[in-house]
Amino acid sequence: MSRIEVAAVASEIYPLIKTGGLADVVGALPAALAALDVRVRTLIPGYPVALAALDRPEIVHVWPDLFGGEARLLAGNAHNLDLLLLDAPHLFARPGNPYTGPDGQDWPDNARRFAALSRAAAAIGSGTVRGYAPDILHAHDWQAGLSHAYLHFAGGARPGTVMTLHNLAFQGQFPAQSFAALGLPPAAFAVEGLEYHGGISYLKAGLNYADRITTVSPSYAAEIRTPEGGMGMDGLLRARSGDLHGILNGIDTDAWDPRNDPLIAARFDSRHLGQRRVNKADLQARFGLEPDPAAPLFAVVSRLTWQKGLDLLLEAEPALLAANAQLALLGTGDAAIEAGFRAAAAREPGRIGCVIGYDETLAHRLQAGADSLLVPSRFEPCGLTQLCALRYGTVPVVARVGGLADTVIDASPMALNAGVASGVQFAPVTAEMLRTAIQRTAALYRQPALWRRLQRNGMATDVSWRHPARQYATLFRDLCVARR
Ligand code: ADP
Ligand code: GLC
Repeated sequence: MSRIEVAAVASEIYPLIKTGGLADVVGALPAALAALDVRVRTLIPGYPVALAALDRPEIVHVWPDLFGGEARLLAGNAHNLDLLLLDAPHLFARPGNPYTGPDGQDWPDNARRFAALSRAAAAIGSGTVRGYAPDILHAHDWQAGLSHAYLHFAGGARPGTVMTLHNLAFQGQFPAQSFAALGLPPAAFAVEGLEYHGGISYLKAGLNYADRITTVSPSYAAEIRTPEGGMGMDGLLRARSGDLHGILNGIDTDAWDPRNDPLIAARFDSRHLGQRRVNKADLQARFGLEPDPAAPLFAVVSRLTWQKGLDLLLEAEPALLAANAQLALLGTGDAAIEAGFRAAAAREPGRIGCVIGYDETLAHRLQAGADSLLVPSRFEPCGLTQLCALRYGTVPVVARVGGLADTVIDASPMALNAGVASGVQFAPVTAEMLRTAIQRTAALYRQPALWRRLQRNGMATDVSWRHPARQYATLFRDLCVARR
């Protein structure tokens, strides 16, 4: 079948602007899909960093008044990405975090900012850019959710629409009063539209009006249809079950390649795991840990929020110390969790080290030098750090939820016997079960042959985009056929 043109829309894209895995996925999909004859152009807001990176921008459309000011659509390339930037200084000429101001609070006009982004996306879908007629409009998360509502009510020919849900905890909720400014017909303010508990939700708009919905793992696709995991949207998601697909994320296996990673102290592959010792010593030095090659070294690379369950790790700390293990944590987020780990490191120097902040180089060093990566998330749509860990021979210890459940094979007696285990899972997600999982992992670590098997199985796991990209391409093609 012929080439498919996809217009994607998102609020983040790696390497230009990133707060989490959303950016990684939006940044990686275009290259992965190009190999399958699917061409992706991505619309993002014209943040200062994005405008500065755009190579030879071309103005392809102008809105004299888009939510309170003039806006221009710029086309160009940056970092091998084919981009459209919504240059609307009144909404996006703000440095730093894409959602929050210097005080850490959401920008008060976020409802307008991301309505404008979605409005521009819908216009692109309707053929506003001369010579560009996308077959699919692919919106990511709530910031892009209104795109499908605008297209739905625009009338006329439109592309197929796909909504990808990366995290149901972020729903884009605003008070009912903000509806009037959106320029949608009154019919959209309904239960089968944007209306959500008396207010509105941009995510709900996307979920209701898109032709197809995807989320980032099969297990999460199942969880969000239950009252426990549905965060208020489970009824809607159950009703749309037939259009809902769980497609696992991949990672960039060139950027994350232990054989060829310029950011780590010593490169290695599954036949030369001994080299990891150099990386472990480097990490222990960096985190002020005792230079003990025999101590199992656990790592964390994470946003420090309730979702990630790291408060449970603070509770489980005694078990970690009792197992003669060490902990190196890199993360940033909630002040209370940050303070908890700072205090733990101060109490246990040489055993617990933490770096509060965001640091990509250090993330690579942690994956290369730690023995095990802890991911005790309360919920996890997919998760990317456990995929990096598998690729680096860092045995992941994960909560049995969402994408973590789908990507790690627990070292149960059966899986060990069959030689297929790649990590440790625990459930339910409590401090007590995390404690047991840490003990179990430390015991496995002290059986070198078994441990090496876990590492090698992880490293042999396909965590690339190859397979997921094929699933997206099939979904896009099937949708095009269904709409003929
Ligand atoms: P989420 O998107 O929920 O934060 P993911 O696991 O999908 O979780 O993606 C997180 C991404 O951000 C990964 O690429 C991870 O390596 C990176 N990351 C998270 N915290 C940090 C940090 N403090 N420093 C560097 N990279 C980080
Ligand atoms: C969200 C989820 C994470 C997922 C990422 C990319 O941030 O929390 O689990 O990996 O999106 O899809």
